[in-house]
Amino acid sequence: MDTTTETHTTSSNPEMTVGVAGFGYWGPNHVRNMVGLEGIGVAMKTVADPDPVRRMRAATMFPSVGTVESVNAMIEDDEIDAIVISTPVHTHYDLVKDALLADKHVLVEKPMTTSVDKALELTAIAEERGLTLMVGHTFEYTPAVGYIHDFIEQDGLGDVLNIRSQRVNLGQHRAKVNVMWDLAPHDISIILYLLNKMPTHATALGRAHINGYVDDIVSLNLEFEDNFMANIVLSWLDPRKVREMTIIGSDKMLVYDDTHTIEKIRIYDKGVDVPSEYRSFGEFQVSYRNGDIISPQIENFEPLTVQSSHFIECIRTGKTPRSNGASGTRVVQVLAAGQLSLNRGGARTALDDPEVMALDGTVRCRPADTEGQT
Ligand SMILES: NC(=O)c1ccc[n+]([C@@H]2O[C@H](COP(=O)([O-])OP(=O)(O)OC[C@H]3O[C@@H](n4cnc5c(N)ncnc54)[C@H](O)[C@@H]3O)[C@@H](O)[C@H]2O)c1
Repeated sequence: MDTTTETHTTSSNPEMTVGVAGFGYWGPNHVRNMVGLEGIGVAMKTVADPDPVRRMRAATMFPSVGTVESVNAMIEDDEIDAIVISTPVHTHYDLVKDALLADKHVLVEKPMTTSVDKALELTAIAEERGLTLMVGHTFEYTPAVGYIHDFIEQDGLGDVLNIRSQRVNLGQHRAKVNVMWDLAPHDISIILYLLNKMPTHATALGRAHINGYVDDIVSLNLEFEDNFMANIVLSWLDPRKVREMTIIGSDKMLVYDDTHTIEKIRIYDKGVDVPSEYRSFGEFQVSYRNGDIISPQIENFEPLTVQSSHFIECIRTGKTPRSNGASGTRVVQVLAAGQLSLNRGGARTALDDPEVMALDGTVRCRPADTEGQT
């Protein structure tokens, strides 16, 4: 046995004990990834979920991990250094705040909160206490988005003129947030990460077909400076699972299809060439460029693994996470502006509208018989 390596690993990577709150659809992925980080000194200790069936499932799937009913037990556990919050969106603020006030580092699922002022408050608490606060904007950790980010930065597309994104499938309906708060955090975080700028205005229209009060189809348009626009379509009412983003550049165009296993990205050497000089409208004739289509080789690894190890690395080194509290807050601000536009029947809404800050995206009008559902 190579004892030198063992000693080195232990001293440079002191044990980090982690708990995961919420063992529904997404929580098990966090637990699996944290268990997988054992080799870098991570001890996945406890799962918290009020649902006994979910706790039973956790115990069966991960026999080495303990289960508790309430997150409070995890927060009060002095051995736990960091908590992953993978619970329904409306619970994030209270759980994150309690965890931070107990000096736990936190990775909270997207969207960070249901309002901008709550996101700002959590970010400030983490900063004051010197804690790592990270938001689970998973797509920022995918090799495909990383590739597109670098390609745009190296001017591979020319000027980026438009992004159109579709994130649609059948379900999963949520009772306390609409489809925009549920699905658009992914598109928004990708777009903000790629462009490194905020929109100035949001315009959103939505419809609630299933229960009449939670929008299940939303079209969200974001305006930026420099004539740039992003259009995002979100739906829980679609026969197909579509995760597609088209990026139109002045030189090339790119299609990112996240459901594709091999050719996730295609770069089209297509465009419109406009004559630099013309004397009359009759002389103005554009020509269309139809060049090669290239599909770059993209590495294939699980983004959640990268995200989980980045969280641990940030705690250990004090480095600021890529998807930190500030970037989580920006995503919530875009969602809140979109929600204000929805509330105003599709009115164009400025991101800095004073009402955006305090707007809470939690759906309030709910029939009593759905209480408790997520
Ligand atoms: N990053 C991604 O790609 C991705 C994918 C899916 C979901 N999510 C996010 O993960 C979070 C959870 O989503 P989900 O689909 O797993 O929801 P879910 O409804 O399937 O599961 C939520 C779980 O949390 C538990 N829970 C509720 N209140 C709790 C509390 N106070 N303390 C502890 N546990 C509690 C529920 O019993 C349930 O087991 C959401 O924020 C969602 O947006 C992220």
